[in-house]
Amino acid sequence: MLEGKKILLGISGSIAAYKTAALARLFVKAGAEVKVILTPSAKDFVTPVTLATLSKNPVNIDFIKGKNGEWTNHVELGLWADLFLIAPLTANTLGKMAQGICDNLLLATYLSARCKVVVAPAMDLDMFAHASTQKNIQTLRAYGNEVIEPNSGELASGLQGKGRMPEPEELFNWVQTYFTQTQILSKLKVLLTAGPTYEHLDPVRFIGNHSSGKMGFALAEQLASMGAEVILVCGPNQIKTNHTAIKRIDVSSAADMLKACLAHFPKCNVAILSAAVADYTPEVVSENKIKKNGSTLVLKLKKTEDILKKLGTLKKKKQILIGFALETNNEEANANKKLQEKNLDFIILNSLNDKGAGFGFDTNQVTIIHKNGNKIKYGLKAKHEVAKDIVDQIIQIIHA
Ligand code: CTP
Repeated sequence: MLEGKKILLGISGSIAAYKTAALARLFVKAGAEVKVILTPSAKDFVTPVTLATLSKNPVNIDFIKGKNGEWTNHVELGLWADLFLIAPLTANTLGKMAQGICDNLLLATYLSARCKVVVAPAMDLDMFAHASTQKNIQTLRAYGNEVIEPNSGELASGLQGKGRMPEPEELFNWVQTYFTQTQILSKLKVLLTAGPTYEHLDPVRFIGNHSSGKMGFALAEQLASMGAEVILVCGPNQIKTNHTAIKRIDVSSAADMLKACLAHFPKCNVAILSAAVADYTPEVVSENKIKKNGSTLVLKLKKTEDILKKLGTLKKKKQILIGFALETNNEEANANKKLQEKNLDFIILNSLNDKGAGFGFDTNQVTIIHKNGNKIKYGLKAKHEVAKDIVDQIIQIIHA
């Protein structure tokens, strides 16, 4: 199950730390190699001897170990791991991770780790709900870390609410799913379009739209962080990409975007077209700036090629093609029509009538409609969560 996987388990000082003994045991039983780092205060909640016995490795706590002043190499620990799971994550360690503070071995390892980092916050409900905690969680997510949300239930304070660390079996299942999914995704090459297109009228003006590109970029980050190779063809936008697995191709017009997509689609297993491509472009682009001569100006526009539809005609049997539909009325009927006409495996519908969905927002609310008619309606979520839902659907198609 987890044969040969290297899991670094970071434990900070919360009462939930006692559950990590069972978690370490589950990982080892499933064939994983486990190394443990404790923060100094975590020792008050779970003993190093217990964890060393169950993980079958010495436990790391301090930078200096033993009587001879031997140094614990945090860089090596971070490079060794396939996954760094920090559970439980206290508000204190969370705050330090968000700020880049590095006053213990766990934090130094976090800053130097190159593998995926996943955290499981555990604290009292009011601490968890506090604006600063939520802001720090958002910051960690923005750094590319995964966050396993706490459960609701009885807390150490005796209060009821959200803040309980998930049970060892739940954390174990999360890790197992993560490795299964990354194994599938690491074999995939994905073509993605994102952002608007700009159709030039003259050297200073263009016809564009309000697309920010956030949804497409969230998808690119999600896919890359799970091992896929991503070719991101994007129209003008303000977003930076950090992941080395994302090959970014910046374009301006619908014609440029089409050209880039046609060049890369044949080598890709999956294509997700999220760009808001202009449907019409000026018939003539003026060489010089258009002067304001008359009281009206008539522009003649010609249709652009529908990139998604074109890829639908070129699609091979094993390729997966996914499109978006942004609608204002007759949403499902319009999305179904696009699904059929463009030969898609599934379409992601968002309606401009849903609050918090559409251009510019950090959130989105979507319905995914598969070609077999299966329909899944999701609630309003952060765009990176929507990206995960979309990736889950791709994995399900590949698994089927
Ligand atoms: N699309 C595309 N090329 C175009 C137009 C659209 O690749 N020239 C893709 C979009 O990226 C999206 C899907 O087609 O994945 C649907 O786009 P949308 O704008 O909702 O619909 P259109 O097909 O353009 O139809 P309409 O504007 O009439 O709703």
